[in-house]
Amino acid sequence: RVPVAIMISGRGSNMAALVEASRAPDFPAEIVLVLSNRPDAKGLETASAAGIATEVIDYRGKGSRKAFEEGASSAIERSGAEIICLAGFMRLLSPGFVERWHDRLINIHPSLLPAFPGLNTHERALEAGVKITGCTVHFVRAEMDNGPIIVQAAVPVSHKDTAETLAKRVLAVEHRVYPLALRLVATGRARLVGDRVFIDEDVTDLPALA
Ligand code: GAR
Repeated sequence: RVPVAIMISGRGSNMAALVEASRAPDFPAEIVLVLSNRPDAKGLETASAAGIATEVIDYRGKGSRKAFEEGASSAIERSGAEIICLAGFMRLLSPGFVERWHDRLINIHPSLLPAFPGLNTHERALEAGVKITGCTVHFVRAEMDNGPIIVQAAVPVSHKDTAETLAKRVLAVEHRVYPLALRLVATGRARLVGDRVFIDEDVTDLPALA
């Protein structure tokens, strides 16, 4: 099983979904570390309760990025993790960190990228009046919420939705899609060819996940 570290900043529900999936005996990845940049992240308690090792690397403010990233990379290397999953990790990572973990760093974002990168995703989707949104798991590149797409799933938008109701509907799908994406990456079935991901199996029924 491939050792995996998860980086969080808050609630950690996607982290919990990955931990839960990894309990299945045939799951190809094992969560060896949950790392937070915030000591008050709710997800830290969830991870500890699940018996997963946790670490907090808490450097804030100006000039703290280098210290944070060095601390994070060392902790992750010490854990033996070979893949990093960002799961609601809300701090920007420098090109140096992204390069160091090139093709081993994946992220989940609550929209159908390249639409609506960044913050306040659901508010912006509602303002744009889109009728379908969703979530994306992708390999991380230096530009925020950008990089080769591994898996996406679609979620319908209702005119009655608020950002909260939409976030909830998308989140439920995120919890199914992220374990699937990690499974594909950990088994080598999601292969990078240039800047696109080829999946070595038929996953055309994936949108049915939503
Ligand atoms: C999730 O919806 C995730 O997709 C999003 O933050 C939420 C974290 O929830 N991430 C981003 O917006 C990254 N740009 P969680 O902590 O319960 O997993």
